[in-house]
Amino acid sequence: MIKAKGLSKSFMQAVKEPGLKGAVKHLFLPRHIEKVAVKPLDLRIEAGETVAYVGPNGAGKSTTIKMLTGILMPSSGSISVNGINPYRKRMENAAQIGAVFGQRTQLWWDIPIAESFSLLKDIYQIPDALYRKNMDLFTEMLGMSEFIHLSARKLSLGQRMRADLAAALLHNPPILYLDEPTIGLDVSVKEKIRGFIKQINQEQQTTVMLTTHDLGDIEDLCKRLVIIDHGAIIYDGTLSEVKARFAKNRVIFFQVRSPMPELYELLEQSPGLKLTQQSSQEFSVTFDRYEYTASEVVSRVMKHGEVLDFRMEDTHIEQVIKAVYDGHLDLNEHRGARGQEPNDDSSRA
Ligand SMILES: Nc1ncnc2c1ncn2[C@@H]1O[C@H](COP(=O)(O)OP(=O)(O)O)[C@@H](O)[C@H]1O
Ligand SMILES: [Mg+2]
Repeated sequence: MIKAKGLSKSFMQAVKEPGLKGAVKHLFLPRHIEKVAVKPLDLRIEAGETVAYVGPNGAGKSTTIKMLTGILMPSSGSISVNGINPYRKRMENAAQIGAVFGQRTQLWWDIPIAESFSLLKDIYQIPDALYRKNMDLFTEMLGMSEFIHLSARKLSLGQRMRADLAAALLHNPPILYLDEPTIGLDVSVKEKIRGFIKQINQEQQTTVMLTTHDLGDIEDLCKRLVIIDHGAIIYDGTLSEVKARFAKNRVIFFQVRSPMPELYELLEQSPGLKLTQQSSQEFSVTFDRYEYTASEVVSRVMKHGEVLDFRMEDTHIEQVIKAVYDGHLDLNEHRGARGQEPNDDSSRA
């Protein structure tokens, strides 16, 4: 559905010295440096996929989305979205995509939301029946009836985001781009929005690409995760794979009947195990899943005292992604050439 090859974007950034003197100097002798926002990247997204596009601030996520939606012209490379070059054929492209940018609204600021929707109906030439069907469905699912008569200006952020999402999908586009759709929203609105996106994806096979800082969005919505850092894709694969491969450390929490002074002996005999004591009868053991199995760790602890209870903590995606950003995990360690494996067409039929 979405194919990008060698896609890159550089901006010319003005270099200005501070103060009036700098401003005057810049006027006569403007200096610019080239800022590479997105390095040449390949990306392929199949119809019906939900892909999370994740990375730290300034990584190049929004720039990529803007090129894919046709808002920005790429510096190099090619894009084909459902067979259309989004920048050259902006009108045709607009008919097949919906886009929500969390930081901005596409609704008219001063007219009631309901009026904005009816303007969009005309712009996109949405047939009456489809329009009515979608309006009913979206109003119900996103709980819009309480604010549909208000202007965008008067909406809370959560209401505005729901209205924007509905606006983006009124014409049933096969592709939906979302740039930080849940930013700044409270949990209940986030859940509404996620449920809605999930349902649209399942019922209409809408292809969804979303950027987010919210790891709950990823866990809830996306099977595939693409991580970008400094303008380059550093991971492209499934969420479960990144968790399983890179979540090396596992933690088991123990509760024991009486304090266990022999624990330190255990640690001496088992290099690599790390102990964190919560109280005299509660502690956790951290271990590398490639060195020990969970049952090995449990049985070693049980040799030294009476275990009342233990539980395993699942790895949080937060920890994994943070480790990826921080460069603590060498993503190439486990795979061949960088990014080659998941981009291989045969692996994603
Ligand atoms: N219009 C622009 N002019 C100059 N630099 C820009 C422009 N838009 C983005 N950038 C720069 O490109 C980089 C990537 O930005 P962006 O794609 O917005 O990152 P993200 O969405 O991942 O936070 C940043 O360093 C940003 O400052
Ligand atoms: Mg951004």
